[in-house]
Amino acid sequence: MTRAPVSAPGKAFLIGEYAVLEGVPAVITAVDVRAVAHDTRDPERTAPSDLSLAAHVLARDHLAARDASIGEVPTVETGPFHRGARKLGFGSSAAVAAAVVGFHLHEAGHDLANPDTRTLALELARAAHHQAQGGGSGGDVAAAVLGGSLRFVVGRPPEPLAHPAWLHVGFVDVGAPAVTSSFVQAVRAAAATDRRAHDCAIERLAAASERFLAGYGHPDPRAGLAAIHLATQQHNEGLAQLQALCGAPIVTPTMHAVLALATRHGLAAKPSGAGGGDLLVVFAPSQGALDIFSAQLQRDHGLHLLQRVAVAAPGLRVEARAPISSRLGGFFKLGVDGRRDAVAAALGLPRDSFAALDPGSLDLDAADNLIENVLGTLQIPLAVATNFRVNGVDCLVPMAVEEASVVAAASNAAKMIRAGGGFVARCDPPWMIAQVQLLRADGPHDPTTAANLIDAARAELLALADAAHPRLVARGGGARDLEVRILAPDMLVVHAIVDCQDAMGANLINTIAEALAPRLHALTGWTPGLRILSNLADRRCSHASCRVPPAALAARGWRGEDVALGIASASRFAELDPYRAATHNKGVMNGVDAVVLATGNDWRAMEAGAHAYAARTGVYRPLATWRVGPDGWLEGAISLPTAVGIVGGATKVHPAARLALSLLGAQTGPALGQVIAAAGLASNLAALRALATEGIQRGHMALHARSVAIGAGAVGPEVDLLVARLVESGEVKHEHAVLLLRHLRQ
Ligand code: MEV
Repeated sequence: MTRAPVSAPGKAFLIGEYAVLEGVPAVITAVDVRAVAHDTRDPERTAPSDLSLAAHVLARDHLAARDASIGEVPTVETGPFHRGARKLGFGSSAAVAAAVVGFHLHEAGHDLANPDTRTLALELARAAHHQAQGGGSGGDVAAAVLGGSLRFVVGRPPEPLAHPAWLHVGFVDVGAPAVTSSFVQAVRAAAATDRRAHDCAIERLAAASERFLAGYGHPDPRAGLAAIHLATQQHNEGLAQLQALCGAPIVTPTMHAVLALATRHGLAAKPSGAGGGDLLVVFAPSQGALDIFSAQLQRDHGLHLLQRVAVAAPGLRVEARAPISSRLGGFFKLGVDGRRDAVAAALGLPRDSFAALDPGSLDLDAADNLIENVLGTLQIPLAVATNFRVNGVDCLVPMAVEEASVVAAASNAAKMIRAGGGFVARCDPPWMIAQVQLLRADGPHDPTTAANLIDAARAELLALADAAHPRLVARGGGARDLEVRILAPDMLVVHAIVDCQDAMGANLINTIAEALAPRLHALTGWTPGLRILSNLADRRCSHASCRVPPAALAARGWRGEDVALGIASASRFAELDPYRAATHNKGVMNGVDAVVLATGNDWRAMEAGAHAYAARTGVYRPLATWRVGPDGWLEGAISLPTAVGIVGGATKVHPAARLALSLLGAQTGPALGQVIAAAGLASNLAALRALATEGIQRGHMALHARSVAIGAGAVGPEVDLLVARLVESGEVKHEHAVLLLRHLRQ
């Protein structure tokens, strides 16, 4: 009997919601946001939900009737369905029912890939879901068990559909969760009073479903997309009819605005699910088109596409390991070996992979190939910060830093933030700016005419940029936009905005800048000057926010409410005074740089970008700000450029950087950017909380004492003893430490 972790995906309706309840086919896709049922001890484990219990009991009874016994109800992790306190409308309850049933079937020896097992899992999960949650079409449970995309008709077996490779799908979280059942009830009640109008709306929705199905299965991308476009329009008209009939706000004004913007971008879009301000689904011919739409959505409405959510995801799946918990209690008390054991166990890493962090792991030959005139290497401690939870997923954050207290402070602040649901983070697409400076020669054109000529050749120039890096285009990246800025009557600058995918991108951006220059010269007669990336990577920012309950902020002798007010006041100080903002941002960069360095990224680029961004309004301002919300909770937010990658550069050649990336588990550059923003926000919170209460020195001194003790020659158990004596004496100085150590040894 193996109690291996089993996961199940969430779902999204691509079309057919509402009409599915009238027997019309819907298209449902499994989204790669997963619930994981597992057996690992979870320090934050709460009692199993009614739904988990219902799924457990049904599976247990079914298996007992066949002489198979199972263990206790598993824990179910649904963090990825959450953004802070908000739950995304991806059908977490169906995924929970499916994961618990799948967990027990696997435990009893069933093969989850076997179609018979899947049929059984679907039956049990549907019954459990129905018992605990009531009605619904059951399409969500089908997607959670079977995965992929499905043609779903109530009462019939779901039919798998191949997701077309040419179709790119994005989701917009409009913000307000819809109460699905109340909308469905309103529609039903209205149907009873005006059957004809109701049937007319359903007919339109049914036609939309059929048209969508024809497009989804079309071999030709153009024809397929055109059909999907018409289908979504027809669907939205059908929804408007239902809305007029029942009065429920199915398509809210915000949703209307997003739909209109999608239309202007030539994209198809519709609400996904019951509407009412929950999720919208957008269909596009490329990820680039989705990113361009998302950037505009952010500018116009402060909304954005959810970070790449894969569709047609696998259904029930056995996982190699349970989701990690970053709450490693007592971690700091373990020695280096004990910590390596704990992290290896939590991440399922081979123990010997930590050799990459041993002194000398970057050998002299490798170092000699990295830079010039090498004499040796400089070692800096590498640690992991604990307690981080970003978008509902726990992670251990690698940090390389020589300053005492940075790792402890970030871990401590992450624990406070975790009490409010953790960090909510997102990232702009990985767009960098290639700059080409143009200088006026004796040519014919004034700056405005030259700018207009460049603008008119936009498509050609973007194609030229793409041609300079065909491999980047093949990986899904490439040129996205072109801007011309007139800096002076005799100086222009052209920006090519390029998607770098998972690379930091400096080399490829510089190549593109150099490739564009001759054509710009030919177009305008102006002379190309510098051709280089901009480190003010403001199209590639990461954003993190959090809400902290006052109780989590309380400090020795300080009420949490007062600490929250103190932190908000400290934030205001930094917002009003650049002298303070610089120090405030230094505290942010304590966390940011430590992760950037640990993962082998360019920390000088990061610093340059962060401070230029802080000063982008003409006044140097704090990167992270704090307010006390109406409910008394502390609310923090940070945005900063994160020109970081997970491929190329030192991330590739430095063994420690490679291990740091696998400790973090970031699969993409943008995912790394989000963690960096979270680390900056946590470091800032820790500093402000200390400053707003007892001051920074007490905590600092305790940690500083450790390096002083080691510097004085203390080894092994002497270190803790000497630290205690130094702190007690209030004199944390080298000479005093040497003296105390001598006494200690006597
Ligand atoms: C020290 O490394 C960082 C602080 O100065 C940051 C701040 O003042 O906010 C404590």
